[in-house]
Amino acid sequence: MYKEAAKYLRQRLSSAPEVGLILGSGLGQFTERIENPVYVDYNSVPGFPYTTVEGHKGRFVAGTCSGKYVIAMEGRFHYYEGFDIKEVVLPVRVLKELGIKNLIVTNAAGGVNMDFKPGDLMLITDHINLSGINPLRGRNEAEFGPRFPDMTYAYDPALIELAEKTAKALGINLRKGIYAMMQGPSYETPAEIRMLRVLGADAVGMSTVPEVITAVHAGIKVMGISCITNMAAGVLDRPLTHDEVIVTANLAKDKFINLIFAIITSL
Ligand code: HPA
Repeated sequence: MYKEAAKYLRQRLSSAPEVGLILGSGLGQFTERIENPVYVDYNSVPGFPYTTVEGHKGRFVAGTCSGKYVIAMEGRFHYYEGFDIKEVVLPVRVLKELGIKNLIVTNAAGGVNMDFKPGDLMLITDHINLSGINPLRGRNEAEFGPRFPDMTYAYDPALIELAEKTAKALGINLRKGIYAMMQGPSYETPAEIRMLRVLGADAVGMSTVPEVITAVHAGIKVMGISCITNMAAGVLDRPLTHDEVIVTANLAKDKFINLIFAIITSL
């Protein structure tokens, strides 16, 4: 399946991409910084699940950033949408087939750490998989990686260092922390957020972990960045809304775009 999809994409791209990007909710506008862009809708790619996601474009954008050929995903497949977990991570395998060495994954997330503020960017140093699923379940695809892949350095230490250095040079206060994945689509309860805090999570969201596991399995170096779009449930005495997630992600987007661009430049 991924071979056919990769072949289809290869015919449309002008180079082999070195860097892959998965852009989370409200963060898709990074693609405006990609030069000589080629657009490929997910719905046109053989083997890709059909999607009509609200607020997501659902397409690949490939082109150059600071002279590097990159391929970005504007929108992702979420498990909560009802996709099979194999469908959720199919694009990562396709990107591997295309030859990417580094993958930058991004998302909108709720702030569990009380020191965080909406609009903060958080470099993901580790994750807690509370989704109850693992994309590698089933027969191991040995051509990608081992049966029992190590996750000690899932978020590549050299890339963490690079992100920190780059943020510092730009004067961006980049937070660091642990991302917990819940399955969603309901937001967490206040009690669940207190639980996550006890477990050591700093941010919570409904994505990213399956893609990271799949990428690490395939030997891709991963960097993760969360945009803290809201304080998690129960921190403030009011309900959470998807609108506030999108509004805050939009407010943080210039900072986010500049950081990602500078990181790609120095990769
Ligand atoms: N919880 C889960 N996912 C999210 C949140 C949240 O508070 N904010 C953005 N994505």
